[in-house]
Amino acid sequence: MKEIEEVRIEFEEKIKKLKPEDLKKLETYFLGRKGKVAYLFELLRNIPAKEKRETGQQINELKEYIENRILQYKQLFEEEEQQEKLLKESIDITVPGLKSEFGYLHILSMVIKEIEEIFLSMGFDIMTGPEIESDYYNFEALNIPEFHPARDLQDTFYLSQKLLLRTQTSPIQVRTMEVQKPPIRIIAIGKCYRRDASDSSHSPIFHQIEGLVVDKNVSFANLKGTLLEFTRQMFGKDTKVRFSPSYFPFVEPGAETAISCVICKGKGCRVCKQSGWLEMGGSGMVHPNVLKNVDIDPEKFQGFAFGWGIERIAMIKYSIPDIRMFLQNDLRFLEQFK
Ligand code: PHE
Repeated sequence: MKEIEEVRIEFEEKIKKLKPEDLKKLETYFLGRKGKVAYLFELLRNIPAKEKRETGQQINELKEYIENRILQYKQLFEEEEQQEKLLKESIDITVPGLKSEFGYLHILSMVIKEIEEIFLSMGFDIMTGPEIESDYYNFEALNIPEFHPARDLQDTFYLSQKLLLRTQTSPIQVRTMEVQKPPIRIIAIGKCYRRDASDSSHSPIFHQIEGLVVDKNVSFANLKGTLLEFTRQMFGKDTKVRFSPSYFPFVEPGAETAISCVICKGKGCRVCKQSGWLEMGGSGMVHPNVLKNVDIDPEKFQGFAFGWGIERIAMIKYSIPDIRMFLQNDLRFLEQFK
């Protein structure tokens, strides 16, 4: 029967070009209920009885052959698929890795570290205190009783009648002297809060460094020496410190402190507003009332204290023109201080 040979040839042609996704189609085409092999069996009905047996056998052989070949291909395709999957999943350890971004310290954190290192090298310890303070530590104990006009100088965020966001780091002076007796030599750096409208030099959140030394025979000269040494290490050997009389209730005498302008070296420029000096903060000799409040005898011990602005220090050292930049999180700014 020539049709058997035709089907075989067609099968050979088709299976040569077989793609995995056509396998099912090919199987149905030849072996399905209405497929080519079924068609051959149908033809069998019309052939003479004596040839039926042999022809039937030939069709069966072809059918078996087709089944086997298809099975072979099925296995082949499955293997190929498996191989491909393995290849895709395998890791090429020679491919260069993706670079990951590393974090780095914020410019203020770096400046704080720098300041701490200078004072640590001068034998100071580092203290901390809470940002939510009581009226007592922020004002009372610092010789600023209720209704004292000095309270108006520091517009305060009150949380309740007795609780507030500290307006200065000076409460840490009191907290330190409560738990530590002289000799005391500490600095404390932290956030302060004031109800100031923000502009290029004011921010409702800022940082201060507080310094406190209490011992026998501590004098104003020690205060001057300490701030001068810090200033020289921070801003350069030829930087000067200026003290001018000022009033803070918790020191007596009190002084406003300024450093010679690091830009123009004191000649006068835009940064120092032609004055040659840059104001850094307050300082003075610890007031006897403050010492009494923490049971330290002012007849035996004296102390000096100072409070400078951290942002101010950073702005001067790194020529940062606007205090708001520290909090804006603009990467173009932050990345300059990697
Ligand atoms: N606490 C003062 C302020 O915030 C600064 C200061 C600190 C003054 C220590 C004298 C002594 O303005």
